[in-house]
Amino acid sequence: MDAFEPLTGPPTRFRAAWHGLGNQLRHPTGVVGRLLGLVMNRLNALPNQAAVEALAPRPGDTVLELGSGPGHGVALAMAAVGPAGIVHGVDQSAVMLRQAARLNRQSRHRGQLHLHLGRFDTLPLPAGSVDGILAVNVAYFWHHSVGILREARRVLRPGGRLAVYVTDAATMRRWPFARTGTHRLFTPTELTAMLRGGGFPDESISIRSVSLGHGIRGLIATAENPRPVGLCDEGAAPEANI
Ligand SMILES: C[S@@+](CC[C@H](N)C(=O)[O-])C[C@H]1O[C@@H](n2cnc3c(N)ncnc32)[C@H](O)[C@@H]1O
Repeated sequence: MDAFEPLTGPPTRFRAAWHGLGNQLRHPTGVVGRLLGLVMNRLNALPNQAAVEALAPRPGDTVLELGSGPGHGVALAMAAVGPAGIVHGVDQSAVMLRQAARLNRQSRHRGQLHLHLGRFDTLPLPAGSVDGILAVNVAYFWHHSVGILREARRVLRPGGRLAVYVTDAATMRRWPFARTGTHRLFTPTELTAMLRGGGFPDESISIRSVSLGHGIRGLIATAENPRPVGLCDEGAAPEANI
């Protein structure tokens, strides 16, 4: 599905403020953005952990986080890929990149973490250069998801995996900032449809519902970048030449 129509709620007295918060979550700036970064590193710890577990990067892998925000997700990804691995974070917010750089100073100095100021629709990485992509709390802003997912598949190697976390629509509808047009909301069916529309094969898509406590439910989706027809599965013996 593309050109998604965002959910807009009834006008409330505080609508402008909630809309401002929704916009800050989409693109944190200034003092408010800095404060939100501190809050996100705490509140989004569980979703980040669940998404990294679902992606299950292997030691030595190269992982890209779309919307690395204040840097908790890239820190977890670094721990998973170990000293031989590489992690890239891409974010459009300079404020978030500075926070992520501070949080992950050592990995950056070792040359294992690369933080890029950029946008999801033009990723600053070569084709097929990434084993896994993390996208935690960012798909809400994919109102035109087809181009973003096409770009994600371009940088993923064949057989590489994507893990997406979103808080589910039923929970998000309770939060006023998510009802002012900034956020796209997802049921499991809608999340599946978005990934399918972005070129991930149906049979590779898996959606799991997770409880984060306090009545908050999240969705973790994983999907695999198709391999070109004729490529051997990893580990499978190549066919003998006759
Ligand atoms: C709600 S925050 C989530 C941050 C982090 N993944 C987490 O879970 O704590 C969304 C992040 O995605 C970034 N973002 C949103 N749309 C983007 C785009 N089109 N290109 C690059 N970054 C984007 C924002 O700047 C922000 O840092």
